[in-house]
Amino acid sequence: MSVDDTLHITGGVPLYGTVPVRGSKNAVPKLMVAALLTEQAVTIRNVSFVRDIGIVADLVEALGSSTSTNADAGVVTITARAVHVAGEGELAVFHERSRIPVLTCAPLLHRTGQAEIYRPGGCSIGERPVGYHLEVLRAFGASTQRTATGYKLTAPGGLRGAVIDLPFPSVGATEQFLLGAVVAAGDSVLSNAAVEPEIMDLIGMLQRMGALITVRPNRSIQVTGVHQLRGVDYTAIPDRLEAASWAGLALATDGRITVNGVRQGDLATYLNVYRRAGGDFEFSSDGGEVTFWRERPMPRPLVIETDVHPGFMTDWQQPMVVALTQARGLSIMHETVYERRLGYTTALNQMGATIQTYRDCLGGTPCRFGRRNYTHSAVIAGPSKLHAADLVIPDLRAGFSHLIAALAAEGTSTVYGVSLINRGYEDFEAKLAGLGARVESHAAR
Ligand code: EPU
Repeated sequence: MSVDDTLHITGGVPLYGTVPVRGSKNAVPKLMVAALLTEQAVTIRNVSFVRDIGIVADLVEALGSSTSTNADAGVVTITARAVHVAGEGELAVFHERSRIPVLTCAPLLHRTGQAEIYRPGGCSIGERPVGYHLEVLRAFGASTQRTATGYKLTAPGGLRGAVIDLPFPSVGATEQFLLGAVVAAGDSVLSNAAVEPEIMDLIGMLQRMGALITVRPNRSIQVTGVHQLRGVDYTAIPDRLEAASWAGLALATDGRITVNGVRQGDLATYLNVYRRAGGDFEFSSDGGEVTFWRERPMPRPLVIETDVHPGFMTDWQQPMVVALTQARGLSIMHETVYERRLGYTTALNQMGATIQTYRDCLGGTPCRFGRRNYTHSAVIAGPSKLHAADLVIPDLRAGFSHLIAALAAEGTSTVYGVSLINRGYEDFEAKLAGLGARVESHAAR
């Protein structure tokens, strides 16, 4: 970890101002992968230039596409005229850096008959296996072969339609299904599918490219494969995770933060919880801007369980836990999507919070982690006066919540490894400065 990767944050000051939010970090990279399905140009707008965008742009280029990017305008154009098989080991570096390359399997099997999976990267928040992806790809007719570094996949005869039932509504496996089913021969059905807004965005773009996709009320997705998809000019949905992070910052610091570039529908569940926690919000008349603030002297304690859509997102959990350290009474957070997503609470305790973690399913609904003995529930006893500390960023969402905690705490915290936050938060240092946060890079000292 370099000193350039370190921030000194002086907290205890309410933050005020406006931050712009652009396209969803968990939607745009999938739209970029979908561009591999057509020989025609795909233009994606409202792109937030977080780190994964650069990784995926390099990835699709390594597979034979030409790409052009304009960070200021938030535009990426990909033309995948001649997709080719990557050289031996060439994709390993991409798989190590991100979770996205796994999703290239279905498009690559379609275009080249071959694909590879190396041990995937991303944040260390659980085991994050790829078994569901393999199940989907095998159902489409791919053969999979275990190698020393991952898997080699082949489908020389192309993909064929399949009926698949997911054991858990996995976002990634649903995306893999969509990216294969739209070009597979015949009909496909996925039951127990994930229906997150980021998935609906991918469906929206694929539909405009010529795909035939029906989302049924019972969480199943039916797709009729087509021979060819065409190019598209598409605007991605805003990042509802980033929006909620800024909302959490307003609640934790007792500030007032306006987030520009949002969609209310994607935040509906979050907004209800925010209000129950003692926050409030107001939208602009066109719904594209929302202002968050604390409407009472202290937040209110709550019981929250994370869940798949339309539940309370696992990625909304961390900023909310920081805010709940300021509530009077006991709050519960039951994490049911990832088995190891509460490790960051140790750092909050070092700052003066009182958070106890448990293996039991607290909160009411038994989940698959209770049976498997994972520490996945937290009880937060508040209010706690947070004080400054030395913090190391463990993963993306926990990392941003460390920033929130440091901004809510008295004194100057030193936060190491902040570049990890660039994975999901565009220009976050400039945005924090614009809100009046006292943040200094180590180099500037
Ligand atoms: N799972 C398996 N096997 C698989 C795939 C998933 O067991 O083959 C399990 C996972 O281990 C996890 C659960 O299923 O326990 C859900 O995983 P899912 O596949 O839904 O997650 P993902 O596609 O890997 C995306 C986001 C995450 C977000 C989750 C849930 C991206 C790049 N990542 O992950 O975002 O938390 O969906 O909404 O889209 C983040 O932004 O910080 C982040 C981690």
